[in-house]
Amino acid sequence: MSDNYYSGKTAIITGGASGIGRSIAFGLGRAGANVVVGDVDATAMESMATDLSAEGISHRIERCDVTSTESLQALLDTSLEAFSQVDLVFANAGIGAGEAGPIWGFSEKDWQWCFNVNLWGAVNSISVFMPYLITRPDRTHMIITGSGNGAYTVLPDVPIYTATKAAVHTITENLHYQVQMGGLPVVVSALFPGPHVVETGLFNSGRVRPEEFDKGVIGNETGINSVEDMKRMAEEFGINIQTTHPDEVAEMALAGIPNGDFWLLAHTDESKAKIQRRADMIINKTTPVPESVG
Ligand SMILES: NC(=O)c1ccc[n+]([C@@H]2O[C@H](COP(=O)([O-])OP(=O)(O)OC[C@H]3O[C@@H](n4cnc5c(N)ncnc54)[C@H](O)[C@@H]3O)[C@@H](O)[C@H]2O)c1
Repeated sequence: MSDNYYSGKTAIITGGASGIGRSIAFGLGRAGANVVVGDVDATAMESMATDLSAEGISHRIERCDVTSTESLQALLDTSLEAFSQVDLVFANAGIGAGEAGPIWGFSEKDWQWCFNVNLWGAVNSISVFMPYLITRPDRTHMIITGSGNGAYTVLPDVPIYTATKAAVHTITENLHYQVQMGGLPVVVSALFPGPHVVETGLFNSGRVRPEEFDKGVIGNETGINSVEDMKRMAEEFGINIQTTHPDEVAEMALAGIPNGDFWLLAHTDESKAKIQRRADMIINKTTPVPESVG
């Protein structure tokens, strides 16, 4: 990372009170940036505030629901009031709805909640933050958290999540093309957490499931409510799932951003092989076979 790229800059991070967003906030804060965290998890926001203060990181933490443009606009207004300008936006909030079983049996509530947060959260963030970012005379950054699951592979375990992230990626790539064609001073980046399953609260998203999307089930129908559950279950089938710490994701992202990288992505030989197999399958029109998770 170029040493002082982030010093004195201000970053907004949605879904920044936990997991990858939290690690990004600390990475930026330690590099001298002001961080503004928007989230809906009051408990996580409280401990985030304590921990950021303990490190002397300049910050604001606000309740912000990415499914609402008003809420995102309020987050931008607060950021500008506090720090006069915003240089980086991480549209990062996301959830897993915990769907399981056949697609035709999924609860409508799962479809709606997951699309609301993952897809509309990204769309709303673009609608609220881009008009501001393009007016800045200096280079600014819009970083959207997608997922390789949806963007370039289709894993068979969480079809709703995969569908949201497929849409998020096409929007991110198109946003990049529009910014490039318009000669605008915003760098758009697609962040792919990984290279393995990242140890975050994503498998326990039910903790922030709004009442309107309650489907009367506690926890995920898969029985997997944490990365640990996933590892344990995989081990029963003789599969060893590797994981990635969210700090590693933040480090990779923060190293790529100053270079203006579009792909904030850590490949492994296995991830490249998966993409290759998918491309080959499409080119050769062979019958799809599912890839394994992990
Ligand atoms: N964990 C992984 O392996 C992985 C892999 C690929 C992509 N991702 C993506 O990374 C991003 C961050 O997720 P994470 O893995 O750190 O999980 P996480 O659950 O630890 O963090 C997600 C945060 O988003 C917040 N959030 C949920 N709904 C929100 C809403 N409506 N408005 C604002 N904030 C909301 C949660 O409260 C939480 O703090 C997500 O977009 C996720 O899809 C994660």
